[in-house]
Amino acid sequence: MCGIVGYIGKKQAAPVILDGLERLEYRGYDSTGMAIAHDGALVVEKSVGRLNVLYNKTRGGAGLPGNVGIGHTRWATHGVPNDINAHPQTNQAGTIAVVHNGIIENYQALKDKLIKRGYSFTSDTDTEVLAQMLDYYDDGDPLQAIIKVMHRVEGSYALGIIFAAHPDVVYAARKSCPLIVGRDDDGSFMASDVTALLKYTRKVYYLEDHEICRLTQDAVTFYNMDEEEIAKDAVTVDWDANAAEKGGYEHFMLKEMIEQPAAVRDTFSPHVRDGRIVMEELSVSDEELAAFRKIHITACGSAYHTGMTAKYVIEGLARIPVEVDLASEFRYRDPILDHDTLVVVISQSGETLDTLEAMREAHARGARVLAIVNVVGSSIAREADYCVYTHAGPEIAVATTKAYSTQLIVLYLLAMKLAEVRGHLSDSCRKEMLEDLRKLPAQIEMVLNNREEIQRIANRFLAARDVFFIGRGIDYAISLEGSLKLKEISYIHSEAYAAGELKHGTISLIEPGTMVAAVATQESLYDKIVNNMEQVRSRGAVLFAVTMAGNTRIEEASDFHIYIPETNPYFTDSLAVIPLQLLAYYIAVGRGCDVDKPRNLAKSVTVE
Ligand code: AGP
Repeated sequence: MCGIVGYIGKKQAAPVILDGLERLEYRGYDSTGMAIAHDGALVVEKSVGRLNVLYNKTRGGAGLPGNVGIGHTRWATHGVPNDINAHPQTNQAGTIAVVHNGIIENYQALKDKLIKRGYSFTSDTDTEVLAQMLDYYDDGDPLQAIIKVMHRVEGSYALGIIFAAHPDVVYAARKSCPLIVGRDDDGSFMASDVTALLKYTRKVYYLEDHEICRLTQDAVTFYNMDEEEIAKDAVTVDWDANAAEKGGYEHFMLKEMIEQPAAVRDTFSPHVRDGRIVMEELSVSDEELAAFRKIHITACGSAYHTGMTAKYVIEGLARIPVEVDLASEFRYRDPILDHDTLVVVISQSGETLDTLEAMREAHARGARVLAIVNVVGSSIAREADYCVYTHAGPEIAVATTKAYSTQLIVLYLLAMKLAEVRGHLSDSCRKEMLEDLRKLPAQIEMVLNNREEIQRIANRFLAARDVFFIGRGIDYAISLEGSLKLKEISYIHSEAYAAGELKHGTISLIEPGTMVAAVATQESLYDKIVNNMEQVRSRGAVLFAVTMAGNTRIEEASDFHIYIPETNPYFTDSLAVIPLQLLAYYIAVGRGCDVDKPRNLAKSVTVE
């Protein structure tokens, strides 16, 4: 996510802002900038790359006199990382500056309207639209202009805003993205999270959705969207800086698991408008999409597992053959590809060398490549023919969770889009499935809220030497991810098995006390998976099952279970993976492992 800092007070603003931005570096970013009000104008300095580039450019802030300002660390979502797309973004007159965290979903429509009214734009960002809209609505009352803009934008935002004509005030506004305000004896602060302010104050106010704050040197005042002043209580933060970076959670992995509902929502929303799948980012015409005769998915690790799920979903919905390959295998097996094959590469980092080289191999064989990536402007994003971004935000923990969940969303939408252009998706079915997708964030939250139960179950696994994950169909793909999560952070050996395959050898490993996790979300396969569960249980296995709410048959066939809410059978990975992520997390914590930085692993594997 982007990082925002603002200040107004007796101190020089630029050094305070740089200091705050430094505290937000952990959030991940690709460019930085700040705007300072001075002598009736706004002075803006921005730079792509690390914060020290901006620090050196402004001589640690000393080169930017003035006591009012806003600053930003940008995690690109719209527009590649460069100086122009860095924040703050301004109106064309340069008299209004905005820093923004979040996604403006209707920015293109708003931009088109402003262009018709004579506005010209310099960046590819959604944020510049906000600055220009503030200019459009600015008739001398900044608060009214801000409220008018808030009424018209759709999406999520945490905003810092300054006006050259009003150098004695900073404004903050929020919808769906965290934003806090703080006070000390010398002035007022705003920031994306408390980490940026702890050096100056522990007395903070948390903005709620649709609230605006007016910050002056002497006070902070809060308003609702009816321009009514609202009273808010200050909170005293007792976290240390390390805890604050994790939002108060013990590990980044837990924080990122908790962020999954918002990440899924942010990834889903931009692609659906008026009940239709738009996927404008795909930049492929319906005719071109319909002309593909085969899909070939290739990725690594967890990204590969989303590809395994996608095979079932795409083949089931679009009736087009799908192959899935580990990228490190794909590169060397002389794959049969041609212009009618759409190769889909999936990568959180967009820098995984095996996946990057697999894409190059696909290009060399005449195939076109669609990349599903979480990092804007990454190598894989730049070299692909088409690219659809996930909006998971920066993922700090090595073990992926929210990026995995957002990759699934893009793959579900791709499957539905393919089915639609190939005439396999009725209007009623599309409407029903989009409604199922829209419910997923809240359902994921429900499963996350049950994490204490999962923590209790995890305690049964702490001494396990081997854990088997079994499932059929999509449940097999989910088992692969559950097994990898457990292995990579708890160091317990684990294997995922197609449940029907156990009897062909591996079942010889099952003995009294062996831990087996069964994933059972596919109603059409319940009889079969229950049979497999009884096979291992009769040999002494201890069974943990993840299944749909109310499925008592699975409950009776297991020693303990977790229910997930009902959803479309094609979407169950999004819900069943959550208990498996949490199971791995609590087992790793219980075994005293370094959850966020497991031994031997890197977040992005940029070597062979
Ligand atoms: C997943 O938890 C692992 N960290 C790893 O398997 C990862 O999914 C894999 O290395 C692929 O990374 P990418 O998505 O950045 O390409």
